Amino acid sequence: MSTAAKGLAGVVAAETEMSFIDGERGVLEYVGIPIDELARNSTFEETVFLLWNRRLPTASELESFASEIRAAYGIPQRALDMINSLPDSAEPMHVLRSLISYLALEDDNPNSVDPSEVRSKAIRLLAQAPIITAAFDRKRRGVEFVAPDASLSLAGNFLYMLNGEKPTETMERALDVCLILHADHGLNASTFTSRVIISTLSDIYSALTGAVGALRGPLHGGANEGVMLMLNEIGSLDEVEPYVMGKLSRKEKIMGMGHRVYKTLDPRATYLKTLAEQLARDTNNYDLYEKSRNVEQIMEREVGAKGIYPNVDFYSATTYHCIGLRLDLFTPMFAISRISGWTGHCLEQLAAGRLIRPSAEYIGPHEQPYVPIGDRSS
Ligand code: COA
Repeated sequence: MSTAAKGLAGVVAAETEMSFIDGERGVLEYVGIPIDELARNSTFEETVFLLWNRRLPTASELESFASEIRAAYGIPQRALDMINSLPDSAEPMHVLRSLISYLALEDDNPNSVDPSEVRSKAIRLLAQAPIITAAFDRKRRGVEFVAPDASLSLAGNFLYMLNGEKPTETMERALDVCLILHADHGLNASTFTSRVIISTLSDIYSALTGAVGALRGPLHGGANEGVMLMLNEIGSLDEVEPYVMGKLSRKEKIMGMGHRVYKTLDPRATYLKTLAEQLARDTNNYDLYEKSRNVEQIMEREVGAKGIYPNVDFYSATTYHCIGLRLDLFTPMFAISRISGWTGHCLEQLAAGRLIRPSAEYIGPHEQPYVPIGDRSS
């Protein structure tokens, strides 16, 4: 009789050609290219092409792929009306999840799992997620919707739509790098969710709706928001040590630390740490960076032996804050990028063509009598 692998740890449940992770050595590659090479040299649009086509594009291929994405900037008027009718108190992740689900209703053929149609829907969703997020953020702030600008990159357009003015090159590039770093990451919880859903031959909207829901949790993509809340809670540098020690003694988790797969530094965190430091200096937020670095040092001293190090969410909190994103847009930011990974995995899953249906280990009683309702005691 087989026993359940708690949390499916160590279970290999799918094949992928997109990202490779070596958690012992701290390696992440997209299609064989180390993540820091991509962060230094690539753009988000090029990285998505790489993930979906398993090779880098030529200059003209990149041009036409980026144009395809830009041509999809825009959301149906009814989707915009729906956003404008939402309560201002709604959480942006709930908004994104609901609107992705709604977009199926605006699609003439939402259920098609034909690969080329799924790819076209994926392009649209990639282009639309930042627009949904920015439109809701402006609506709740009581400022006019800013129409997308198809001359801008996905990162640039998102910042433009949020702020109503074109971003500086530094901010656009910083956000673009964040998008690259979050694009794909093996069979994480939300990606697994999307693969399970599409494996039933359901539709890409359902797969992404489920994935956004999974990403929202504080043990997954929601951790970046948790990190920022923690940094805000820690008033000053002197308070870092008692704060962290207090959490550890109460056996509470420090958000942005630890990973199921990495038992050393997450390579994305290494890159983000440098980016966070530079942005924090440039934007007068150096205290945030210093607090983060102190948390990291104390955690290394206290629990480093258990393999608990910063993950991707740890320094992305400072980075997003410096870029000017409001706290509850941190996780939508992650989702906007990860749509590329989710949809790529859905296409892989459709090609693999097998329903994902694992088993459960039954741990209840057997051969129980059926007791008539009148004879049951409470
Ligand atoms: N802070 C303090 N202790 C942590 C920790 C953290 N962030 N992450 C793990 N640990 C400790 C656990 O308490 C446990 O200790 P124990 O063996 O003494 O009981 C041990 O490390 C193993 O942790 P566990 O939660 O079982 O590992 P996991 O593989 O199931 O969990 C995470 C991985 C990511 C869910 C977990 O590290 C976590 O909750 N991190 C915080 C949330 C986060 O940043 N999520 C984003 C991930 S990208």
